[in-house]
Amino acid sequence: MIKFDFTSMCNYDNDLMSRKDEVLQKFKDSYMTGWTKKIDSNLVQDIIATSKEIKKHSKCLVVIGIGGSFLGSFAVRKALAPYFKDDDFKVIYAGTTLSSDYINELLDYLRTVDFSVNVISKSGTTMETTIAYTLIMQLMREKYNMEDIKKRLVITTDPVKGTLREEVNTNGYKSFPIPDDIGGRYSIMTAAHLLPLAFSIDLNKFVEGYYLGNEYIDQAFMYAVCRKSLFDQGKIVENFVVFEEKLNYFSEWLKQLFGETEGKSGVGILPMSTVFTRDLHSLGQFIQEGNKIIFETFIKIENSSKIEFKSYDLHHINNVVLDSVRVAHKSGDVSSILITLPEINEKYLGEIIYFFMLSAAFSGFLFNINPFNQPGVEVYKKEVRENIII
Ligand code: PA5
Repeated sequence: MIKFDFTSMCNYDNDLMSRKDEVLQKFKDSYMTGWTKKIDSNLVQDIIATSKEIKKHSKCLVVIGIGGSFLGSFAVRKALAPYFKDDDFKVIYAGTTLSSDYINELLDYLRTVDFSVNVISKSGTTMETTIAYTLIMQLMREKYNMEDIKKRLVITTDPVKGTLREEVNTNGYKSFPIPDDIGGRYSIMTAAHLLPLAFSIDLNKFVEGYYLGNEYIDQAFMYAVCRKSLFDQGKIVENFVVFEEKLNYFSEWLKQLFGETEGKSGVGILPMSTVFTRDLHSLGQFIQEGNKIIFETFIKIENSSKIEFKSYDLHHINNVVLDSVRVAHKSGDVSSILITLPEINEKYLGEIIYFFMLSAAFSGFLFNINPFNQPGVEVYKKEVRENIII
């Protein structure tokens, strides 16, 4: 069971608690909550079978996508991957950068191995994804015939519309849907993330854990209330803190989830993240004694692998440091919330992801904004389109 400590180092506003019925009703009335509906088990099995097929003829899968079509699977994959053991099968991400060095080196590498591609874009029009996909498909066409390409390309996109869907319809490529009622940053329980994850994690356990997250509705609302209360007290920055390097990208996923959900109409909490103890020696000074605009959410892991140091278990030391940092930061007027996972595995990651998505949505309603859109992301794209035709 995941544990939550909302009150020992955080004061919340009781008036916000009284908005619970209103917020839950708004959530219930929202169209974009398809991620709370049970995923079709045949779809999950099809995803697993597809990953096994790809492994038969490829040494590498290139996953092309950005934002909500990238961060979820990347974060969970990193969280569950061993630190130093390389997998025989590589999953490589593209479409998150326009760096020509990155793309050139990736293409050079792909010339040397048999590879498959999973392009992921709900809209099918995202610039970064389109560029990487076009360049990688040029190489694919040089290396493989159409028959082969049909085995090596999987398109994950809108079920009915968009350019990628048209490509599927024209060429008969393998495809998976991103349902209309699920937005990018809420799409972890769709093929957009499940296919890339099927190569390295126990997908069934992850899916099972995810829906258990629904048991944390009360805690998700409480978390949203605590955050909004702190925001109202002038704490406008939330630092997500992990003590495990492999959770670094989980924090990146959290930053996207909360940043894109809340940051609109001139409001929202600015998310930042740190990996302690590393960053105690960089940002720790600012957090302890700098501008008092920060509060923190600590993610603690109860159990980890064992290694003894002077009769202490090293993981115990890590957690003693976590508890001590909370106390120290509180003495510097930095409030915090604590979320404790029994361990890092598929089940608990699934649960906590659902919890955070619920809470982000509730938080949006507490801020009186739409938690499911991101109109601001379009502005730079429009500016680019005025300069280049892609
Ligand atoms: O959360 C979101 O909706 C965004 O981050 C999108 O996922 C991102 O812009 C990519 O969009 P698309 O899947 O349409 O390529």
